[in-house]
Amino acid sequence: MRIGARLVDQGMDGTSVGHVNHSRVGYINGVIRRKRCTRRIKRHRALPFSMALQDLFLACRDIFKGPGTVPSPEDVQRLRRILDKMRPEDVGLSRDLQFSQPKSTTKGTPRVTNTTIYKCDNFSLCMFFLPSAGVIPLHNHPGMTVFSKLLLGSMHIKSYDWVDPHHLSNGSTTTSSKLKLAKVKADGVFTAPCNSSVLYPTTGGNIHAFTAITPCVILDVLGPPYSQEDDRDCSYYRDTPSSTNAALNGDMIRTKEDGERYGWLEEIDMPENSQMDSIEYLGPQVIESGH
Ligand SMILES: [Fe+2]
Repeated sequence: MRIGARLVDQGMDGTSVGHVNHSRVGYINGVIRRKRCTRRIKRHRALPFSMALQDLFLACRDIFKGPGTVPSPEDVQRLRRILDKMRPEDVGLSRDLQFSQPKSTTKGTPRVTNTTIYKCDNFSLCMFFLPSAGVIPLHNHPGMTVFSKLLLGSMHIKSYDWVDPHHLSNGSTTTSSKLKLAKVKADGVFTAPCNSSVLYPTTGGNIHAFTAITPCVILDVLGPPYSQEDDRDCSYYRDTPSSTNAALNGDMIRTKEDGERYGWLEEIDMPENSQMDSIEYLGPQVIESGH
């Protein structure tokens, strides 16, 4: 599959110059820049820079201190204020995002592409490019706080949090078939420009799924990032509305009366449509100096 997205060169002239094509090297304006450099080695060219992205990076470095860090309400507001103002241009994208799909690979769910802007042990900044109808299936973020900012497009988001067993009279949120009860946190369509959202290790919709209605780009801040070594691997789930299982547990009938919606989640192997392509990030860079 081929994905293309118009980019903005935020160098000296600020003109729009190219496309992303992940089957090659990502941001083509980066290739153009390198070619120019070989011809005029001594010419200095200003690197793309975004104050908003740099602010985001510095705030993350202040706030995320490693596994176990859950940002305070003040820190959450600080990060959200920065993210709420961020625009596609801050990560090297123009608003006329384009995705194309070759005729040979039109079957099945379109693949999602990702790119990492920055990653360290404490946090990561990454983006996901979803073609129209592209899906990031239901997955969790164990022990993580995640800020998400939809930069472009329109997508459906469904999210859940696990139900605390203590909230049910018999203390059971599981069944013999390994289904586990979760409460619906979000189930709706979001369209850019919109404010950022945040999920926490046990609240805010820690388990979520994205389905693109139009081509979308989402910027994620993960603190800390996924790590198999540190037991923060990603798990995938299949959901079933709880109404179809109400008879399994009398408590479900009671909880359904509280105006909330519930679902039964079953852990599954990584779905085929969760495989992503990765491209190199060649948008505005963060500057790490100044610890
Ligand atoms: Fe996620």
